[in-house]
Amino acid sequence: MSQQSDQFKRLVAHCKEYGFIYQSSEVYDGLAAVYDYGPYGAELKNNIKRYWWRAMVDMHENIVGIDAAIFMHPKTWKASGHVDAFNDPLIDNKDSKRRYRADVLIEDHIAKIEGKINKEVTKAKKRFDNFDEKMFRETNGRVKGYQEKINAITERLATAMTNNDMEELKAIIVDLDIADPDTGSRNWTDVRQFNLMFSTQLGNIAGTEGKLYLRPETAQGIFVNFLNVQKSTRQKIPFGIAQIGKAFRNEIVARQFIFRMREFEQMEMQFFVRPGEEMKWYEYWKEVRMKWHKALGTPDEKLRYHDHEALAHYANAALDIEFEFPFGFKELEGIHSRTDFDLASHSELSGKKMQYFDPELNENYVPYVIETSIGVDRMFLATMSQALVNEVVPGSDDPNNKRDVLKIPPALAPVKCAILPLKRNEEAIVNKAKDIFNQLKLSFHCQYDDTGSIGKLYRRQDAIGTPFCITVDFESLEDNMVTIRDRDTLKQERVSIEKVAEIVGKKVDMKHILA
Ligand code: GAP
Repeated sequence: MSQQSDQFKRLVAHCKEYGFIYQSSEVYDGLAAVYDYGPYGAELKNNIKRYWWRAMVDMHENIVGIDAAIFMHPKTWKASGHVDAFNDPLIDNKDSKRRYRADVLIEDHIAKIEGKINKEVTKAKKRFDNFDEKMFRETNGRVKGYQEKINAITERLATAMTNNDMEELKAIIVDLDIADPDTGSRNWTDVRQFNLMFSTQLGNIAGTEGKLYLRPETAQGIFVNFLNVQKSTRQKIPFGIAQIGKAFRNEIVARQFIFRMREFEQMEMQFFVRPGEEMKWYEYWKEVRMKWHKALGTPDEKLRYHDHEALAHYANAALDIEFEFPFGFKELEGIHSRTDFDLASHSELSGKKMQYFDPELNENYVPYVIETSIGVDRMFLATMSQALVNEVVPGSDDPNNKRDVLKIPPALAPVKCAILPLKRNEEAIVNKAKDIFNQLKLSFHCQYDDTGSIGKLYRRQDAIGTPFCITVDFESLEDNMVTIRDRDTLKQERVSIEKVAEIVGKKVDMKHILA
């Protein structure tokens, strides 16, 4: 097993064992690509959402938040283009009866060739002392050949996707001799478009008239409320509307745990600007959003921008902020310049003008929009995959003395502080620890735990990422002092009980990362 997939499996197992994420309806063997968040997962998810909301809404006077309904008038999805264009190219294997995304099959083929290049590089690295990787990639015949193949396939794929050319996608699969990854069969159907929206039926209207969709993005709830929000809050352009909420997509390829789910949550912000100023604001939000990620301590080399070559039907520029997940660099957040596409389409289909009167220019116009859109679940996965470390216990000389620790940024940690009595059978210690817990719980999410030996309790708190443990012992009864243990350094300090809230508060306050 590769180190990467090994690390990913450990992460998935850790999430289940420690109450972060469970497979949905597990007692019935689960429902594919749908997950439930357990007690610590729900806390972490809430903290991620709070960090986003604080940074986007509370920190910007010109951004306001809303909470729109999941169900929307079906015409919404006609206007937005989702009924006609929110499709993935689907291909079935006639023998295995398995269904794949045609573009993903081709991308996986490209990844295999990339794997061959990486093998060549690794081999050469071992052979030469002063190895120059860039030079090697540019001059080695075999590597150059592989790279040319990748470039040619990538270009063919991009053209086929831009032109919605299903025949060409099938032709690429046949030309590259791509087989069903599970069975090896090459007996493929034609490629056809598959709409990703889930639909349901309104109770009191029969037939297509009553057909409703579960929203595939939260953004449309913002667009249709543009005038309501602008008028009721008297915002002046440029201004933004933010929203956090569930979205649903009938993904064909649903894999990699919570990376691609059928029910997920988005944090989206639409920023309304003057037409012609959209590229300035696109650059602005590109920088601001990257800073938001880095403020959590994510190292530079784990994040990168990826400009889109094929643009969605509504965009005139788009990029992803990619994160290096255990399975490689993948999209974490999208930043899109959506032009006036959505507001103009809703105006046209509804017959209601969605314009803004700009008092400075003394004219009416349909604003242009820059969108920032990030999946809560993907941010959760990025946070967890970066945080989970298996390390030799700090200070130990024994290389086998290891611990699993979640080094989650303290402001996002599910539990901020655990209060642990040294002896669970000593009533006076237990009472004192419970008193401290009852005080601290007024300030943060804390946990009282006396279910094991102190060593076991520490390990458990490390595994759920608690930044501080407070131990109450016999001496505490005399001197009103406790031991405070730091999750990352394992340094232990004796401090007065009155000081605990201040010490913990300083470290876990979101203020520091927001500033
Ligand atoms: N409103 C624009 C929009 O929805 P998108 O790139 O399709 O754009 C935005 O989605 C973000 O939503 C992605 O960057 C990703 O973080 C998250 N996302 C999209 N599909 C997802 C899925 N099936 N499972 C989990 N997260 C998803």
